Amino acid sequence: MENNQEKKQTVLSLIQPTGTPTLGNYLGALKNWKNMSDGYDCFFGVADLHSITVRPNPADLRRRTTEMYALLLALGLDPHKNTVFVQSHVPAHAQLAWILDCYTQFGEASRMTQFKDKSEKHPDNVNVGLFAYPVLMASDILLYQTDFVPIGIDQKQHLEITRNIADRFNGLYGNTFKLPEPFIGKSGAKIMSLQEPTKKMSKSDTNPKAYISVLDDDNTIMKKIKSAVTDSEARVYRKDGKDGVNNLMGIYSCCTGKTDEEIEKEFDGKGYGDFKTAVGEAVCDELRPLREEYNRLISDKAYLTECMKEGAEKASYTAERTLRKAMKKVGFLQI
Ligand code: TYM
Repeated sequence: MENNQEKKQTVLSLIQPTGTPTLGNYLGALKNWKNMSDGYDCFFGVADLHSITVRPNPADLRRRTTEMYALLLALGLDPHKNTVFVQSHVPAHAQLAWILDCYTQFGEASRMTQFKDKSEKHPDNVNVGLFAYPVLMASDILLYQTDFVPIGIDQKQHLEITRNIADRFNGLYGNTFKLPEPFIGKSGAKIMSLQEPTKKMSKSDTNPKAYISVLDDDNTIMKKIKSAVTDSEARVYRKDGKDGVNNLMGIYSCCTGKTDEEIEKEFDGKGYGDFKTAVGEAVCDELRPLREEYNRLISDKAYLTECMKEGAEKASYTAERTLRKAMKKVGFLQI
């Protein structure tokens, strides 16, 4: 009878511990992680290896890794049912990344827009790690024979290169890696800056009014939404060019589940004041439980460490199997 039980499909995604995530990270990725966590075999992780392409202070990196881990648990991910881990605790990620580096062309890695953007932003530190970043991401994904990767739209190109690398390797050595699909939500895929709504919302923005951090208190959230840039039309509807309003509609839709039509009807004849109040309240309601649970968890370091150990063990078990398979195919001597 047990043989009839279908194996669950695998979901994997990671987030960098580069400060408190924004509403963009949350609506674009983390909320979907939580939504998928029951129906799939899930691996969720803190991408600390990725975050040293810029040079964080070591004590900050350690603190932020713990904070990000606590935040993942605060989402409601069950660390015993899902695998919630820290990337550097699973050595297979860096090991497979080296192998995949040798199956990635310089040209295709050079075409990654995030690499181009980041090297323009930090011309004094264009390190090889920044260049090889998408290959490490490919390693993260391929190690777990992942079916779906819940991400925001900015990571889509990295999913494409992952598939190309996997396909090339499989073509040379026979089926080794599953080809993953991105999972990109309809309305939260790209949450924009509240101050410059043609730009992605980002925690590295120098203007804190441009983003909402998932740990902002209700008062701060309301203030930031109230000061969001809109336009002079004072009518709530979706249209190309109404970037600020489109963004707030997307945020409202993600938090309430309402469609564009429902939102347009709800605010028919009302101005942006009412609309912004409703959006602000919806965001507060969405983030409040996360903040409360986070505050509870972050003070329990012993519990977090215990969960990290369990996560590392479970992740390593699956990752090692794929790593050994790839090493054998390439021709490394087994002893
Ligand atoms: P990171 O840490 O920059 O962002 C984490 C997730 O948040 C999404 N995101 C957004 N979604 C909507 N609107 C926004 N404004 C917004 N900003 C960020 C990102 O798309 C991402 O899903 N390289 C990855 C981390 C990573 C990873 C992986 C992801 C490492 N290995 C393997 C998936 C699979 C990154 O830097 O995401």
